[in-house]
Amino acid sequence: MNTLCVVGAGSIGRRHIENFSELFDRIDIVEPNAERAAEVLKSHPVNSAFASFEEAIADTSYQAVAICAPPHVHLPIAELAARSGSHLFIEKPLGMNVSGWNDLALYCEEKGIVSYVAYCHRHIPYTEVLKSIVQSGAIGRVIHGNMRWGSYLPDWHPWEDYRTFYMAKREEGGGALMDESHGIDIARYILGEVTEVFAIVDTISDLEISSDDTAFLTLRFENRSVLQINFDLSSRCPRVSLEIIGTEGTVIWDRIAHEVRVFSASTKEWEERKYSKDDLMAMYPNQARHFYNCIVNGDKSIIDIRDAIKTQAVIDAGFESSASGKLISVRSQG
Ligand SMILES: NC(=O)c1ccc[n+]([C@@H]2O[C@H](COP(=O)([O-])OP(=O)(O)OC[C@H]3O[C@@H](n4cnc5c(N)ncnc54)[C@H](O)[C@@H]3O)[C@@H](O)[C@H]2O)c1
Repeated sequence: MNTLCVVGAGSIGRRHIENFSELFDRIDIVEPNAERAAEVLKSHPVNSAFASFEEAIADTSYQAVAICAPPHVHLPIAELAARSGSHLFIEKPLGMNVSGWNDLALYCEEKGIVSYVAYCHRHIPYTEVLKSIVQSGAIGRVIHGNMRWGSYLPDWHPWEDYRTFYMAKREEGGGALMDESHGIDIARYILGEVTEVFAIVDTISDLEISSDDTAFLTLRFENRSVLQINFDLSSRCPRVSLEIIGTEGTVIWDRIAHEVRVFSASTKEWEERKYSKDDLMAMYPNQARHFYNCIVNGDKSIIDIRDAIKTQAVIDAGFESSASGKLISVRSQG
């Protein structure tokens, strides 16, 4: 029997239950908020609910555990789950920093435990289109790029006061840099590994949060290209886009307009490829199927803990650069 324990039945936990219910025979949840747990038991295809992960694994050994709680508890739950022999699906960001994750990656490799970290934007079909355009050489050699990733935090969860949501709390792993690190993962996926980071990470808007609402980063890549990133939690109009400038053209990936546009220096024209919101939302079932295929059919995880450590190391370098005012070399050892 294929069994899954979803730890944290909040916004993303509930979405994953829906997608995983097509694949797993039995799903249990861990949710410390009793009212929320009771609600999810009624509304979702869930077998049992527990108040803590320790309780859930007292009598049951799950084939897989999906960690959908706030980032400050990702590492301790992942360690317990791996020690109980479960494959790991871990929501992004990996954790609070890289510390402790290399040891867990090694443990998983030794025990044959699959790990997958949910930087789901790689599963959007038009992200693959962006990657193949850049790899095909259609815009020539990449020189630099700009990324915008912003939205208004109080609009995210209309059912709760944003000040009580973990995203408002630095100590629980909230904030623009941690959350929008999707953009760092996509940048690595398209442009390669990051060597240096300069950043300003701050809380500048009127939002009542202890986490950052503004993160401006300059990334230098191994191929010498440079990317400017502007993450925020204060944009009243959502923006999610990446523009990459090459020696022979420009490509723009826009996750709000659902389009990829390519400008060719030879024709001096834009070519537009249009997609839909359904294409965007397909990332969740695509991701669920990928994880399932890794644990059942032996497929290779496209973002395992080792890969996500490289994104986490860029986040860590961003915070360090902002605190010190210095350009920081990226280090993945923790
Ligand atoms: N990949 C995506 O598209 C995506 C989208 C949203 C959130 N996320 C990630 O998922 C995680 C959760 O975000 P969310 O928006 O669902 O938050 P949320 O606040 O809606 O849900 C988190 C849930 O975890 C529960 N929780 C807290 N501590 C726990 C513990 N020790 N054990 C079990 N449950 C615990 C909370 O009670 C809450 O119900 C974060 O890491 C976030 O970055 C990813």
